[in-house]
Amino acid sequence: MRPDMTVAIGNLKLVNPVITASGTFGYGKEFSQYVDLEKIGAFVTKGLSLNPRAGNATPRIVETPGGMLNAIGLQNVGIDTFIREKVPFFRTVSTPAIVNFFGSTPEEYAELARRLDEIPEVAAFEVNISCPNVKQGGIVFGTNPVSAAQVTAACRAVTKKTLIVKLSPNVTDIVEMALACEGAGADALSVINTLTGMAIDLERRRPVLANITGGLSGPAIKPVALRMVWQVANAVRIPVIGIGGIMSATDALEFMLAGATAVQVGTASFVNPGAAQEIAEGMEKWLSERGISDVKSMTGALEG
Ligand SMILES: Cc1cc2nc3c(=O)[nH]c(=O)nc-3n(C[C@H](O)[C@H](O)[C@H](O)COP(=O)(O)O)c2cc1C
Repeated sequence: MRPDMTVAIGNLKLVNPVITASGTFGYGKEFSQYVDLEKIGAFVTKGLSLNPRAGNATPRIVETPGGMLNAIGLQNVGIDTFIREKVPFFRTVSTPAIVNFFGSTPEEYAELARRLDEIPEVAAFEVNISCPNVKQGGIVFGTNPVSAAQVTAACRAVTKKTLIVKLSPNVTDIVEMALACEGAGADALSVINTLTGMAIDLERRRPVLANITGGLSGPAIKPVALRMVWQVANAVRIPVIGIGGIMSATDALEFMLAGATAVQVGTASFVNPGAAQEIAEGMEKWLSERGISDVKSMTGALEG
């Protein structure tokens, strides 16, 4: 018998727990020739802002041992072009489209949530709080529990759609951030975004990235991500989506044992654009080989 692979995140019903991560899967369409979108749980679109953004100067990507650093600078088409040019594709697939977005004030976040709330093709929101709060002198929303709660509450006030808040690992206490977002009305938490890192070109005596620092992703961050998912899942009552260095079905299932209800696949799609579908199929195979009838039974089933 085939295992039940379905999971729920807020109002979202997913055919399996595998979601593609923001910034690594375009707006869905770009990967539709490599992945049968109906065979993955959902896809998250590239971080969206009110106005288009050109992103940072190049170079803005560099490979590192076991991962990569990126400093794309949240390049995106802006909400008007997004609605006009990207949303129509969502109608052609039954896979839920989760829209990741960011702003530089709580009002900007709320404005994005309000506008996206009117679009039936947008299944859910993923709020990226790793952005500087311009009103508070550049402090990053995602590193201050009061600001994180403000942003979450501002979005919650204007939408009943599933509201996922994506946490930054660049904090002293991720549990404090998780509790602040849960308390402000988040339906689920994505854990984690990239870890701030740096690469240096010795001969040129210069940073490799034009932006100097960037976000580290890939297998190198998996142990940190697993630890944070485990900590957060033990502290909150809402579902946790595990992210960080997931390259295989076994990686994904480890995140579920740590407490994740679903997972996101990011950097793996750059190595193999079909990775997300292969991971979903591999999870199902692993479960059926062991006679496990429901993937949901893996969530938080860590022993010891
Ligand atoms: C090139 C690139 C662009 C990204 N852009 C975004 C983004 O726009 N918004 C966001 O919330 N996360 C963004 N991320 C973070 C990923 O969604 C994910 O949280 C992170 O890469 C860790 O997962 P991974 O190790 O599987 O890649 C980006 C990551 C990469 C590598």
